[in-house]
Amino acid sequence: MPDSPAKVALLASGRGSNLAALLAARERGELPVEFVLVASDKANAGALRLAEAANIPTLALDPRSYPDRRAFDLDLFARLAASGAEWLVLAGFMRILDGEALSPWIGRMINIHPSLLPKYRGLHTHRRALEANDPEHGASVHFVTAELDGGPVIAQARLPIEAGDDELQLAQRLLPLEHRLLPAVLGLLVSQRLQWHEHGPRFDGQPLLRPLTLGDDGSLSVK
Ligand code: GRF
Repeated sequence: MPDSPAKVALLASGRGSNLAALLAARERGELPVEFVLVASDKANAGALRLAEAANIPTLALDPRSYPDRRAFDLDLFARLAASGAEWLVLAGFMRILDGEALSPWIGRMINIHPSLLPKYRGLHTHRRALEANDPEHGASVHFVTAELDGGPVIAQARLPIEAGDDELQLAQRLLPLEHRLLPAVLGLLVSQRLQWHEHGPRFDGQPLLRPLTLGDDGSLSVK
């Protein structure tokens, strides 16, 4: 019997271009996953519309209907578990998560963040890279832990900052790299080539001493 595809749920607050990239990778036969749910804290998120168009179940929960963050997060994660998801992908999910609520998912949840972590956790990453006169910028995919944008980094895509770049140009040049990075990491995760370990991620059974790097051909390698 063929292996059934890994069940994945995605959380997003915004337009969902990373979801679109994952769906395209799946369509091309490069990502053996089934999306069982796309969830959002914003009923008008573009990601929900994309999911509907792809016949993926959706869920919109309004944080204002809950007494506090923990109550929202516990309900959200209960529903994600009920969807049958084995893996969770955060792609532009703009909320800080409660540590207790997320703890059952440690090692099975990744986030994409538009900076070369550990630089620039949080917001306005492109602006901060420009203000610091950094020679390069990038995106990171990391395991999610209770520390905001602070879990172990799995892989990064890097790009040079050019003279005259502004925030928007930098974001626009980075996005296509994000769209290659996230499917590549999710593919390694669901194939279990990449595994969470309490002392740090392992890649092909070996400790991952520094993040994998996205190459021009879209593959991830140890540099
Ligand atoms: C991406 O830039 C991602 O790195 C950040 O939020 C943005 C989400 O974009 N965490 P989209 O909704 O996937 O288009």
